[in-house]
Amino acid sequence: MASQRVNAERVSALLDASVAAARVAADYVRSREADRAGLDIREKQASDFVSEVDTGAESRIREVLERMVPGSQVVGEELSPQASTAGETVFVVDPLDGTTNFLHGFPTYAVSIGAMSAGEVVAGVILDVPHGEMFTAIAGGGAFLDGQRIQVSSVAVPARALVGTGFPFKNLEFLPDYVRQFERITRAQSGIRRAGSAALDLASVACGRFDAFWELRLAPWDIAAGLVIVREAGGRVTDLEGQDLVPASGPVVASNGLLHESLLESLRD
Ligand code: IPD
Ligand code: CA
Ligand code: CA
Repeated sequence: MASQRVNAERVSALLDASVAAARVAADYVRSREADRAGLDIREKQASDFVSEVDTGAESRIREVLERMVPGSQVVGEELSPQASTAGETVFVVDPLDGTTNFLHGFPTYAVSIGAMSAGEVVAGVILDVPHGEMFTAIAGGGAFLDGQRIQVSSVAVPARALVGTGFPFKNLEFLPDYVRQFERITRAQSGIRRAGSAALDLASVACGRFDAFWELRLAPWDIAAGLVIVREAGGRVTDLEGQDLVPASGPVVASNGLLHESLLESLRD
């Protein structure tokens, strides 16, 4: 009993640190919105950009997390992408999810931080920078939007479903498969949206704005926080075979649960 309480207190402290770090990063990103035209930008690979705002946000997040949770590790997209997620306390950080949107002033981008303990995501925060909405969850404790409990949708019929997606613009080898999936999903479901931030796509599944979401290749930092938020809202997040995901690189299928099997079937060739 006492150890359960200590554990709950520890996980709650990990969420508090994640929220504090996400707020600092979101304030910084917001403070740089007016500078977007003159930013220092580098192309990591074709169509994959990183700006001084991405790295600036990540170093600020790191500073908060290391101060509030001494001894923790950070896997961050820009500064420590190769670090291991296997430690005792690891934060998996996307300092700016939706960089292309940010650079163009398209208002869909977020800070995403998942806290892992012994290989499991135990807490997560996704902070929508332009809208100020904050999605949070603790494993076993439910999912919240600005402190109000959220749930996935109850849409069970594919023809009524709104599905989010991400295009494989960084992994063009997946394009032929993706185009076939796109056709099948377009025929089976009522609508498809491509917003440009995987973290916010997962948050949208968690709060029922989307009934499902799929993308053929995402990175650990795109999904770490979203995994716990969708699951705590009652949804599922798996690979294309229906296996539950941990933060890693690969395909992601998320849904309200009710649509999961039919979605997986539509996605299979
Ligand atoms: C990207 C966004 C986008 C998704 C890409 C991600 P970034 O993250 O989440 O929606 O389609 O696969 O890489 O590069 O803006 O952090
Ligand atoms: Ca990302
Ligand atoms: Ca990013």
